[in-house]
Amino acid sequence: MTKTYARILGTGSFLPERHLTNADLAKRVNTNNEWIVERTGIRERRLSENGTAAMAAEAAQQALADAEISAEELDLVIAATSTPDYAFPGVACQVQAAIGANRAFCFDLAAACSGFLYALSTAAAYIESGIARKILVIGADAMSKITNWEDRGTCILFGDGAGAAVLTAASTGLMAFDLGTSGLDGGSLTCPFGTEPEELPYIHMDGRRVFQFAVRTVPETIRRVLAEASWEKDEVRYYFLHQANARILASVARTLQIPEKKMPMNIAYCGNTSAASIPILLDEWNRAGRISPGDKLVLAGFGAGLTWGAAALEWKRKKTAGKGIVRGIEPEKQNR
Ligand code: ACO
Repeated sequence: MTKTYARILGTGSFLPERHLTNADLAKRVNTNNEWIVERTGIRERRLSENGTAAMAAEAAQQALADAEISAEELDLVIAATSTPDYAFPGVACQVQAAIGANRAFCFDLAAACSGFLYALSTAAAYIESGIARKILVIGADAMSKITNWEDRGTCILFGDGAGAAVLTAASTGLMAFDLGTSGLDGGSLTCPFGTEPEELPYIHMDGRRVFQFAVRTVPETIRRVLAEASWEKDEVRYYFLHQANARILASVARTLQIPEKKMPMNIAYCGNTSAASIPILLDEWNRAGRISPGDKLVLAGFGAGLTWGAAALEWKRKKTAGKGIVRGIEPEKQNR
């Protein structure tokens, strides 16, 4: 019997209209455009007006249209998020109501910036075991809700957005995963619930420690997932990495000796959108017609927990006819 894998049938994404530029931030904290661009690659980020579930539902609708299936066909909706609008109901339940995925069961999953990879692996396990056949996986975060706008060490980094993918059972697709967690290092990136009513939950981050963790862990997880899939690094067409900092991506490319043009970036115009960053990037490249049937892709991320993960993905869906999402920067210039 041939093995069943989870294949991506379609993708979608949403970025809010409202921009916050580095110049806007420099009016609030002691920073400047040159420092932010040089240290992070970020020029602007987006701010959601309507919350996480609204962004997630927009991305979901696009993914369903791209997959050419209806919401009623979905068996399961998983939303990866650390910034739900409510403790409950979850974002996935709100999306179900918004799109009419009436047959699906729905839940949220929290693994910070690794959330989309953890959700993909969960969906793949449901598909491989035959529990579900069509699954909507969403990564959505409104990081602006937990950003301390007085803290220049963190407020420059994050932005809001959502990305989604529709998965189905197929003969190839998500071929391998590598996932891991180091709870002992969790203190370097936290967002505590306040104990007093007036205390807001804000991001606290030891930027250097997180940076060092990322540049060490991301190459390791990529090497492991390549070995698990029995792929050579040069066979891979694109490495879609979590967009946390352009310098982290450059370091990973150097360590693995991968050309930087194989590592798409969109951080300049959306910042770090946490669980949404990988699916937004994947959707932009899919819609721009840059991914072809049979391409081997690696997705990899890291984040609070501390967590990390990578997936080896064979792209078998038909080529999307270059509908090209152009957001702020021309596609040719999007990759640095
Ligand atoms: N503007 C101007 N100066 C600044 C700013 C700012 N926004 N922030 C810090 N500085 C100053 C510091 O005070 C320091 O000054 P000093 O040398 O006088 O002490 C100097 O710039 C260097 O500070 P560092 O913290 O060493 O700067 P670094 O090069 O490490 O960059 C950054 C900081 C961008 C935060 C980097 O450490 C980073 O990107 N870390 C990874 C963060 C990350 O990826 N987090 C997301 C994880 S995913 C998730 O799950 C949410």
